[in-house]
Amino acid sequence: MAGLPAAPPALRRWPGLGLCLLLCLSSGYVLEKKVVQSKVGEEVILPCCHEVPSSELHRVYWQKNTTEVVLAYAEGRMISKHERYENRTKMDTRNLTLWISPVEILDNGTYQCVVQRKRSQNSVVVCDESVTLFVTADFSRPNITAEVSANSCESTEMVVRCSSHGGFPKPRMSGALNNISVVWNVSWVSESTFSPYNVTGSLWLNVTRDASITCSVEYNGFAKSSSLLLKKTNDCIVPTVPPPYNVITASSIIIIIFLLAVTLAARYLPRHVCSHCCKPQDSAEEGVKECKKSPVSSKVSSETSSV
Ligand SMILES: *[C@@H]1O[C@H](CO)[C@@H](O)[C@H](O)[C@H]1NC(C)=O
Ligand SMILES: *[C@@H]1O[C@H](CO)[C@@H](O)[C@H](O)[C@H]1NC(C)=O
Ligand SMILES: *[C@@H]1O[C@H](CO)[C@@H](O)[C@H](O)[C@H]1NC(C)=O
Ligand SMILES: *[C@@H]1O[C@H](CO)[C@@H](O)[C@H](O)[C@H]1NC(C)=O
Ligand SMILES: *[C@@H]1O[C@H](CO)[C@@H](O)[C@H](O)[C@H]1NC(C)=O
Ligand SMILES: *[C@@H]1O[C@H](CO)[C@@H](O)[C@H](O)[C@H]1NC(C)=O
Ligand SMILES: *[C@@H]1O[C@H](CO)[C@@H](O)[C@H](O)[C@H]1NC(C)=O
Ligand SMILES: *[C@@H]1O[C@H](CO)[C@@H](O)[C@H](O)[C@H]1NC(C)=O
Ligand SMILES: *[C@@H]1O[C@H](CO)[C@@H](O)[C@H](O)[C@H]1NC(C)=O
Repeated sequence: MAGLPAAPPALRRWPGLGLCLLLCLSSGYVLEKKVVQSKVGEEVILPCCHEVPSSELHRVYWQKNTTEVVLAYAEGRMISKHERYENRTKMDTRNLTLWISPVEILDNGTYQCVVQRKRSQNSVVVCDESVTLFVTADFSRPNITAEVSANSCESTEMVVRCSSHGGFPKPRMSGALNNISVVWNVSWVSESTFSPYNVTGSLWLNVTRDASITCSVEYNGFAKSSSLLLKKTNDCIVPTVPPPYNVITASSIIIIIFLLAVTLAARYLPRHVCSHCCKPQDSAEEGVKECKKSPVSSKVSSETSSV
């Protein structure tokens, strides 16, 4: 009684509750579910309880979903087996683990390992543990296809489809268009709840420029994804042409005017230079001849410029 004052008041008033709490906590820890993942076609080993000396072992049962006996052993010898598990299962008689290979989708579920020990006339259960087996089958890499339904200068309308097959369990499909998530319209096909699934997603898109679409199929923590570049087709070239064309005509007009001005200047300059040089060379006969000729040429040039 001297130890009790240290316990919380509630436990002091109802000592039985404290015992229950302790038991519940410890049993909760022991009952914590063991989980094993496996893929179809691979091998898996399901753990049982601690090792029990084989001399003390009476019976070991490996059962599924508490209803079907997978394997049963008595004094180290197999006494019962299930047809569906025949030649695919073995139990190790020392550590009591259950070996399954190759794993099938139907093997998914919760298994119990029950160990009994002989004590005088009757047997007592020394361990009863559960282990959950999650069976996964890989989906194929998603296949993305795009089908253009309408096209215009501004946008391309298309129906994008993503499909993947042969996986388990029923998957989730997610997607992203240029890293922004999109929602697929998803449909699944499977022969039964324990058969592989085929999944197809469709998406209607109105694309105004090249974009990248990603499709991911997620199942039991695994994922398979693919991407496809969606090309914006039929880019219209007509509206982009007029501006350069105008620039070309404008610049060529400027160049023509400049060339005309240069030719005019070239014809005017010789007369101006000559009339200037004539005055100091009045005495020279040849200089006079040239001076007489030059006005004629200037007249012609002025006539052409006025035309
Ligand atoms: C497991 O047993 C429960 C009832 O005990 C039943 O409803 C369920 O369908 C069973 N699951 C499988 C996979 O057999
Ligand atoms: C298990 O293997 C034995 C021997 O190889 C064979 O005779 C038997 O038909 C097999 N059983 C099944 C269900 O495959
Ligand atoms: C139990 O024994 C088998 C074969 O002897 C071994 O492959 C397996 O790893 C053992 N499992 C444990 C939990 O010790
Ligand atoms: C596989 O078995 C576990 C445990 O029974 C269950 O929770 C899960 O839903 C099962 N998966 C499928 C796809 O039936
Ligand atoms: C992807 O799907 C298309 C249309 O359904 C098909 O023609 C093509 O062969 C598939 N590609 C692959 C790699 O499965
Ligand atoms: C999308 O995001 C990933 C990482 O979040 C980045 O590496 C990638 O460059 C991004 N792509 C685009 C097109 O923005
Ligand atoms: C999704 O697809 C189904 C059939 O393929 C169709 O009936 C339904 O209207 C679609 N939903 C959306 C939101 O596009
Ligand atoms: C799933 O797809 C595969 C390959 O395309 C095909 O052979 C199989 O029949 C499909 N299954 C169902 C249930 O539609
Ligand atoms: C597609 O997008 C373009 C540009 O945003 C828009 O002009 C057009 O109306 C859209 N088409 C449809 C069918 O919504």
